[in-house]
Formats: sequence, structure tokens, C-alpha cells
Amino acid sequence: MKLLLKKGRLIDPGENIDGLFDLLIAEGKIAEIKPQLSIEADSEINLNGLIVSPGLIDLHTHLREPGFESKETIATGARTAARGGFTTICCMPNTNPVNDSPEITSLIKEKARKEGLVNILPIGAISQGEKGEHLAISAEMVAAGAVGFSDDGQPVSNARLMKEAMEKGAELRVPIIDHCEEKTLTEGGIINEGRISKMLGLKGIPAAAEEIMVARDIILAKTYGLPVHLAHISTKGSVELLRWAKENRVPVSAEVTPHHLLLSEDALLSRDPNYKVNPPLRTEEDIQAVRRAVKEGWIQVIATDHAPHTEKEKSLGLERAPFGINGLETAVPALLDRLVRTGEFSLKLLIMAMSVAPARILRLSNKGCLRVGADADLTILDLNRSTTITKENFQSKSPNTPYLGARFQGAITMTLVEGKIVYQVKD
Ligand code: DOR
Repeated sequence: MKLLLKKGRLIDPGENIDGLFDLLIAEGKIAEIKPQLSIEADSEINLNGLIVSPGLIDLHTHLREPGFESKETIATGARTAARGGFTTICCMPNTNPVNDSPEITSLIKEKARKEGLVNILPIGAISQGEKGEHLAISAEMVAAGAVGFSDDGQPVSNARLMKEAMEKGAELRVPIIDHCEEKTLTEGGIINEGRISKMLGLKGIPAAAEEIMVARDIILAKTYGLPVHLAHISTKGSVELLRWAKENRVPVSAEVTPHHLLLSEDALLSRDPNYKVNPPLRTEEDIQAVRRAVKEGWIQVIATDHAPHTEKEKSLGLERAPFGINGLETAVPALLDRLVRTGEFSLKLLIMAMSVAPARILRLSNKGCLRVGADADLTILDLNRSTTITKENFQSKSPNTPYLGARFQGAITMTLVEGKIVYQVKD
């Protein structure tokens, strides 16, 4: 099967490509890229200048299966990812049972193979049951398909265990992803500790709880020369530590979510549980700091932390509702509208942070690039088309987004995985 994409604006910051090209797909791979190709293909699509990005890769997705299928399943999560322009998603292990064994990893891989429209790469747990006591990481889990390890949702409180995890990750050549939270400071917290928590009389989650763990991980990485990846960075203090780490060549990478780039704690004045997330939405100053960190390369990745929860759970009120924002379908339109259209982020930077950089962290040499021979995983974007976020057109099982009703300028028009169209916008 040959598919010819005509006149796309190909952007791949990793390969230094930005221009109008024809791209030929054959047998699921990128077969040719030329300013003009005259080839008899099985089908041909004229893109008329739409953006062609290497398929987006989400380093941080919660799929909820096994165990919490009322929130999301592998099948619904994959459809949601395709709709959101993601061709590869990495699913976190805080399922029930926790993905801490080759058996669970294999089960997820098998379901993903049968039902997953996109590439689904499991992240295994660092510790057994995510309890922070005994290391779960194993070569067998990597062989079964785990591409990294994290106790996401839970921090690794024990520094010795974290060091051992980093050693094991280096040995197996897979990233160790830490959810940075000092639990003794966050117990009972609902929203960011500060002005809004005081106004609402709610227990706060201090920035210090994140920064203490960011500092610990950076010190471990520096002392032992072991890489670590820090999940959902949200504070100015963490950014300052990451800047120091970069300047001192510490092998640390980090990610930020779209919601920490776009939304502040002020939104919590509405008491809408759809803004309740961990780490919490922070201050305007923190938002400016994480944006700068992406521009400077101190934070390399934008990852959604797609955390679906049912409408019923989110209607329990701010104090009782679970933490989490549904992110896969809103990430690209929101970021295109609020950061690219406004000129704050270039498209190149967005593609770097959402495809090229995560592929490098995962060591995926055939993804996250527009190179002849690479997998034809592609995301096609239209900057002039708008997207309206409604419950009705959500693919995800859970509508827990703070953007219901929002209209963004910027849309995903097509998602292709190994040359196959897995999502196409309807006119
Ligand atoms: O808000 C969050 N939700 N933060 C996490 O760390 C976990 C996630 C979840 O699993 O719902």
C-alpha cells in the first residue's frame, strides 16, 4: 500500500526540516520526501499546506485498564489519543493491579495490539504495588514491553530505593520517571498552598513538597551520574533547580503538562473539581517560569498526564473528588491557541517538546522524526481550523476537562499510525 501526501508543510526540528514537501508512505514507513513527487500511489491526499508533524508521543497517560475501566480503557484511551493527534502513548502503572510484573505488562501489550489504534507503550512500576518498599523493575518487564518505570501517582519517598531504581534504569537503558512529591507536606492537601487556599479555607499543597524531591533527584543524578526524568513539573522553584542541573550537566530531563502551562490556581475560585489535579495548578509566576523553562530547554517535554475520572467521581465536590485532568484531546488545540497563535511558542518548539524529545528519552529511533525509513506515524495540523470542546464529541470515557465549551483556534485534522489513518476530522 502506497499513500502519497502532497504539499504538506513538514516540520521536524530534530532533522531541521521546515518546508513544503510531498511525502510518500509505503508499507507503513516513510518511503520518500521530496519537494515534488510524481508517483502512482494507491491513494493521494492533497494537504494544501497543512502542517505535517512527526506523530506526537505522550510520555504520561493514564489508561486505567486493568481495574478502573469505568474511567477509561485501553480501547477508549487509544481512540482518544488518535483524536488528540497522539500516535504513541505511554501508560502509567497505577492500575489495579499495579503494572509491576511482566504478566501485567504483557496483558496491556496484548490488549493494545488487539484494540489499540495507536502505539501503546507501558510504563512499569518502580516498586512493587507502588508501595515504595521493594524494587519491581526487571529485565523481564522490559522484555515484556515496559519502556520505562515510574511510581506515578505516588512518589518514591525512600532515597535509597530511588537510587537503586536509577541504577537499574541505567543498566536496562530505560527512563526512570519520578512523581516528585514529599508526602509528609502534602497529606490532606487539595489545591496549591497560597492565596487561594487561604481564601477558600482549604488545606494547601506547598510548592516545597515538589521542590524538595526535585532537588533530591537532581542530587542523586549528579552524584552517581545516573539519568532521571521528572514528571509534571509545576513550580518556579523546580525550574530554578532544573536550570542549575542543566548548567551543571546533570543527566536530568523533565516534563510539564499543558494545564500547568496554561491554567493558574485562580481557576479554583470556581470550586470546579475539573481543575483539581496533582500537582495542583499554581500561580501566574509559576506559569511564566515553566513556559520559560520549555523555551530554554530546561524542561524538554510537554506531556498530558491524561487522568480520566468519571463524571460521578468529579461531582463529589472539590474536597472529595479525585485529582486529575483529562488531557489527550484538548492538549494540542489548547496549546496551539494559547501559546502558538499568540506567538509565545513556535510550532517547532511545540513539535520538539511533544514528539522529538519524548522519542529521544524513550530511545525510539524510528519515531518522532520525519526521516526516510522511519515509521509513518504522522500528525496533521490545521492552524486555521477551530476546535470546540464538548462532552458529545469527546472520545474519552470521562469528560473531566476544565475546557468544556471552549473554542480553540487550531485542530488536528488527521492522525496516521504506520501509514494508516486512525483519525480524520469530519467536515
Ligand atoms: O492529578 C493526578 N492524577 N496526578 C497524579 O499524579 C495521578 C493522576 C491519576 O492517576 O489520576
